[in-house]
Amino acid sequence: MDIKKFNVGIAGYGFIGKVHAYGYRTVKFYYDDIPSEIELIGVCASSDETRRKAIKQAGFKYATDDFTELVKDRNINIVSCCLPNHLHYEFVKAALESGKHVYCDKPLALNVKEASELTEMAKKSSVKTQVVFQLRFFPAVMRAKQLMEDGYIGKVNFFRFLYLHSSCVKQTNKAYSWKAEFEKVGGGVLVDLGSHIIDLALHLVGNFKKVRATAKNITSPDKRTDDVAVLEVETTTGATGVLEASKIATGTNDEVRFEIYGSDGAVAFNSMEPNWLSVYSMNEPDSPIGGLRGYKKIETVQRYPDATGMPLAKFSIGWIRSHIACLHSFLYSIIYDKSASPSFEEALNVQKIIESSYESSRTGKTVFL
Ligand SMILES: NC(=O)c1ccc[n+]([C@@H]2O[C@H](COP(=O)([O-])OP(=O)(O)OC[C@H]3O[C@@H](n4cnc5c(N)ncnc54)[C@H](O)[C@@H]3O)[C@@H](O)[C@H]2O)c1
Repeated sequence: MDIKKFNVGIAGYGFIGKVHAYGYRTVKFYYDDIPSEIELIGVCASSDETRRKAIKQAGFKYATDDFTELVKDRNINIVSCCLPNHLHYEFVKAALESGKHVYCDKPLALNVKEASELTEMAKKSSVKTQVVFQLRFFPAVMRAKQLMEDGYIGKVNFFRFLYLHSSCVKQTNKAYSWKAEFEKVGGGVLVDLGSHIIDLALHLVGNFKKVRATAKNITSPDKRTDDVAVLEVETTTGATGVLEASKIATGTNDEVRFEIYGSDGAVAFNSMEPNWLSVYSMNEPDSPIGGLRGYKKIETVQRYPDATGMPLAKFSIGWIRSHIACLHSFLYSIIYDKSASPSFEEALNVQKIIESSYESSRTGKTVFL
């Protein structure tokens, strides 16, 4: 596909809108295989102050408080959805109807109904669509996937995925955020953080067969939202696992962890130590006196196979680098006409698991997927 120029529109310039703008501005420093020009054209934000800031900070040509303006702008050929969850459906639907490539931050939509409709539309369209589950794009996670596909840990038997924040431990003096409102999130922490680790688990250990879940509110003012959720799942291959998403994890910052235990080995990751993947192999000799058996840390650092070396692979990695890699994969899919992933269909599956988990939490029963 001959894409000479990406003219970008970003709907939402809050926390993640800035990350997307930074990504479009810098991605060409990190990768040599994006020959297209990239220009930030339009941005949408509700406050006047944010709109002014977006123009000054990121260099957009114009700013608006009406996201349909970005969709109607025929000059824009690619849009990012960085709006609160309850606005994703309307914006993404309009963008698809206008034939724009869509890079949508998670979750795809508010519920399964909306996500199914968007997925159907995306399938019928000729544009590329991707959802931002950027955790897949840490080199340590990419290496874990490779090793598992190569049979390094054998058959997966048991796993744990955790996403931990402490933002709800104390509610006093907390600034207002739409994330505290049930209607705007479509739930609580299970949607906000849980969606990330559900995607990661599906990506690494495969599809789920059933889920039994508890989603609870401990401190949040809107009692319909949850600030801790625990899912007990079984995969279609018979592995058992636990997923925990919490904003009442006292002492944590932004911590994603997983441990995957197989018949021949194990892999483990902690996003607070993102330069390393821990691996364990039963094939290492365990004698004499333990032989060479034991967990070892693989130095995945910034060893992206397709990056330019800016910064060099040996430099420590950070959270934002995974966003750049995720955006790169999307732009690459457009330029070279490859399928984009995480796809809308994969995000729909995440949404189905979220809804089934809420159902299980309400009824106290296991839900078959
Ligand atoms: N992938 C990630 O790491 C990650 C991290 C944070 C947030 N997110 C996702 O990104 C999305 C946005 O989250 P955020 O934390 O950036 O939120 P935010 O509140 O910081 O920003 C939201 C932006 O949307 C704009 N907006 C809100 N209502 C609007 C309306 N009616 N019309 C026009 N503009 C409007 C606001 O002005 C603001 O610029 C959410 O879907 C969230 O789940 C993803």
